[in-house]
Amino acid sequence: MKLAVTARLPVDVAGRLRATAPDAAAAISVLGVPPDSPADRLPLDEAIAADPDGLLCLLRDRIDAEVMDRCPHLQVIANVAVGLDNIDVAAATARGICVTNTPDVLTEATAELTIGLLFAAARRLPEGERLVRSGAWQGWALDQLLGVPIAGATLGIIGLGRIGQKVAALGRALGMRVVYAPSGRGGAPPSSSSSSSSSSSAAAAALGVAPLPLPDLLATADFVSLHCPLTAETRDLLDRAALARMKPTAVLLNTARGELLDEDALCDQLEAGRLFAAGLDVYRGEPHISPRLLACPRIALAPHLGSATTKARTQMAELAIDAAVSVLRGHAPRTLVNQAAWPPRRRRP
Ligand code: DGY
Repeated sequence: MKLAVTARLPVDVAGRLRATAPDAAAAISVLGVPPDSPADRLPLDEAIAADPDGLLCLLRDRIDAEVMDRCPHLQVIANVAVGLDNIDVAAATARGICVTNTPDVLTEATAELTIGLLFAAARRLPEGERLVRSGAWQGWALDQLLGVPIAGATLGIIGLGRIGQKVAALGRALGMRVVYAPSGRGGAPPSSSSSSSSSSSAAAAALGVAPLPLPDLLATADFVSLHCPLTAETRDLLDRAALARMKPTAVLLNTARGELLDEDALCDQLEAGRLFAAGLDVYRGEPHISPRLLACPRIALAPHLGSATTKARTQMAELAIDAAVSVLRGHAPRTLVNQAAWPPRRRRP
């Protein structure tokens, strides 16, 4: 069997395979970036050409039905990410291909980066840094680069999953009042019987976080932070009309996915002074970033660093390797997201 890995990982894949599954190591060959190569990625086409049984991929790899059909023996797609918007999970399920992701291990890192952007945007740190570096700073001034307060402010979380819950807890520790709306466009408080909304409700109760319909959250929160997955339902969730509901003193944070947000409308709001600031880690069509966002002084920008700690990235790689190997050995992995695809249908004879 072949396991194709589209990126250089912070973990030696073959070494981990030998250490964690010595009985299977001889039966699984790993195809990845050669150790002596300066490249950091294996082009997806090369991975596909190897006719892999398992594919370990990153967010930048778009794994659609066509890719799956070009890999007739593919049993498992292991994404080194928690988000799955780069994978057509329904197409995988229809073909009996397992899909796995990397939950939990990046929760703290991503929540911490969210709070970092919250401070940067609220206290105008990028503007301050540019001023200092420019050499034009004239010294302390009473009215210089005034920000908005954090303690006592209301933090509105959209999507109270693992990362949203952690951000809520950090917000509470900062003395913020925290409210949340579920991910969906309807924005009703979570009274439905769906398991994810009832687990959000239980988490919210434990955290002391109050539910609000999305329009009310937007109208009342001083900080609005996006923590929902990108799906057909959440794409463009914060469109022009939604952004227009926010207070002119409010700060918007996005460490989830760029496609949740109308970036042009955000620039219009910021440029017109109808929103105080924004902190963004993710962008529509990244790594391309809209020139308007780049030019907008009130946005703190980061290059998709949410999970970028050595610990989180190492654990993400380990989790993805273990999930792929588990499927290839005939065991259901803990991080399987499409239960209906188990057991995989495409085993080699
Ligand atoms: C994810 O895992 O989905 C993040 O966006 C990358 O860490």
